[in-house]
Amino acid sequence: MVVPQRSRRSCLAVPGSSTKMIDKARGLATDQFFLDLEDAVAPLAKEQARETVVAALNEGGWGDRIRTVRINDLESRWAYRDVVDVLEGAGGSLDTVMLPKVTGADQVHWLDLTVTQIERALGLPAGSIGIEVQIEDARGLTAVDSIAAASDRLEALIFGPADFMASINMPSLVVGEQPPGYDVGDAYHHVLMRLLTAARANGLQAVDGPYLQIRDVEGLRRVAGRTAALGLDGKWVLHPDQVDAVNEVFSPRQRDYDRAENILDAYAWYTSEAGGKRGAAMLGDEMIDEASRKMALVVAAKGRAAGLTRQDPWRPPVER
Ligand code: GLV
Ligand code: MG
Repeated sequence: MVVPQRSRRSCLAVPGSSTKMIDKARGLATDQFFLDLEDAVAPLAKEQARETVVAALNEGGWGDRIRTVRINDLESRWAYRDVVDVLEGAGGSLDTVMLPKVTGADQVHWLDLTVTQIERALGLPAGSIGIEVQIEDARGLTAVDSIAAASDRLEALIFGPADFMASINMPSLVVGEQPPGYDVGDAYHHVLMRLLTAARANGLQAVDGPYLQIRDVEGLRRVAGRTAALGLDGKWVLHPDQVDAVNEVFSPRQRDYDRAENILDAYAWYTSEAGGKRGAAMLGDEMIDEASRKMALVVAAKGRAAGLTRQDPWRPPVER
């Protein structure tokens, strides 16, 4: 059974070179943010951005959000120094390192060992720094099962649509939407399901990437709604206008959350001595059994992680 460990409904992308955007990010109600050293930072600004990111993490003010830094990919010339400088400078003030463009398990092993070394050298609790990886090309998707199993530090797999579209030669310039001319289904269904199943098989969360049309909040809702319906845990946001929509779409509706908690309580009672040791029972108009309990666990965990509270608790029948 996979349940969200930490809520990742919305993940804000913040260019690590912009103190202005970093300051603005502190006031946005996303579950997670990442300070980017990769594609949102120009090559000439990479080194300065590391210092800006370290200072921003140490300065704090991030509440209980998941604090992440995206380093450069392992084919670049910046990756090792990104890890060393960021973790040595702010290793106690961040939760996870995000590795982009992952193409194989060996890259995750490298990051895991490097993080382990730095944790030891700094005296940080072993395993305190997590890893998230972006799957954003054909090689990464092909190797996703071994990537997902490559480290105990892994917390999430993230789909990178822009790089992925480029990697497979999809002739579209619109990130997050269906490619023009494709009108027979969802062009990303296979990729998202592949990533989701690899994540769940290894107890990880699965997150969808950005929607670049930041003015089109209804479009974002539609696209995010599909991903949420498949079971992914969240989506990136790039702009304040996207935050509420994404948080809402990835939270269970109140009535589904109430129902899930009630299924758990009712099923626990019906299967107990007092409830008659029944494996299947009626709850309202619906028959519930062990499989219902498992489904309810997922919705209840997502709701609890999103901070929902139950409105109408189930109570055992007085007489049976
Ligand atoms: C994100 O990194 C993307 O490539 O879409
Ligand atoms: Mg990318």
